[in-house]
Amino acid sequence: MQTLSDFLRNSDTSTELQQLLITLADCGVEISALVRGGALAGVLGATESENVQGETQKKLDVIANDLIKDKLAAQPLVKALASEEEDYVVAGHADGQFLVSFDPLDGSSNIDINSLVGTIFSVLPAQDGVDGEAAFMQPGRNQVAACYMLYGPATVLALTTGNGTLMFSLDPSDNQYKLVDAKVTVPEQTAEFAINMSNQRFWQPAMQQYIHDLLLGKEGPRAKNFNMRWIAAMVGDVHRVLSRGGIFTYPQDTKNPAKPFKLRLMYEANPMALLVEQAGGIASTGYETILDIEPTEIHQRVAVILGSKQEVEHCLSYHK
Ligand code: AHG
Ligand code: MN
Ligand code: MN
Repeated sequence: MQTLSDFLRNSDTSTELQQLLITLADCGVEISALVRGGALAGVLGATESENVQGETQKKLDVIANDLIKDKLAAQPLVKALASEEEDYVVAGHADGQFLVSFDPLDGSSNIDINSLVGTIFSVLPAQDGVDGEAAFMQPGRNQVAACYMLYGPATVLALTTGNGTLMFSLDPSDNQYKLVDAKVTVPEQTAEFAINMSNQRFWQPAMQQYIHDLLLGKEGPRAKNFNMRWIAAMVGDVHRVLSRGGIFTYPQDTKNPAKPFKLRLMYEANPMALLVEQAGGIASTGYETILDIEPTEIHQRVAVILGSKQEVEHCLSYHK
């Protein structure tokens, strides 16, 4: 079976990007081990208590963030990084050619219940003479790579460098990622949707109507029954979409008027949108293609509707 390194070496990926991707993949191996052995680390950490040595025990998402930050700091190819867990852009190496945005631990509320979590990375090209947050203000279309690691019963790595989406599985016998799907393809049609139904009353009319029609099943305008799934970790839901299709959405809502959107553009929506598009799916806000959004800040949030092409298009038809 082809390892990730073999695959990259035989691809047309630049040696620099190969090197960076191996570093990101290594972060996944280490976080995977922490998650596995250390649901304890996360649970204890949630209390922010001190251990016997007087050190603060940190939440697993802070531990994962520090681990990635340290690994990327040692990587001269990285000019700057942006993380969900960092208020500001962290400077790297002045002549680095890549900007890395990441969600160190996605779905962190799942840690306490031993359920799915993952890590999401987005890689943008650095631009000469543009530093700090401004450097990251590029549409997702510019991403040179996107990937996530999902720490489930198996640890998997989904990767795109803009030439299709690939799936690797971490082999516990040698800690190597092995290629399991060289051409991930999202089926165009689906009968499965993912949305946090508890927010129903806060959605906009378009989403209300779309979900209402799905729920009517065979007797309704869609004339088929739909099934629902919600993992509460975007990595888990997107992985299901890449594996067997589906529509995943976290739409705009009015639950907290100060926060109409939940998911973050730079390290959740953009990388997942590229992975889904490269597998034949679609990713939109309802009104705009995710990858075409011109960002205005590193932590900005957006509505996300992604997945099987025909189903997402159907959902978008309610937004016209
Ligand atoms: P994070 O743990 O990185 O903050 O992200 C959680 C996100 C996303 O992964 C998931 O789809 C969504 O929040 C779940 O939201 P609800 O808690 O509203 O279900
Ligand atoms: Mn997240
Ligand atoms: Mn997170």
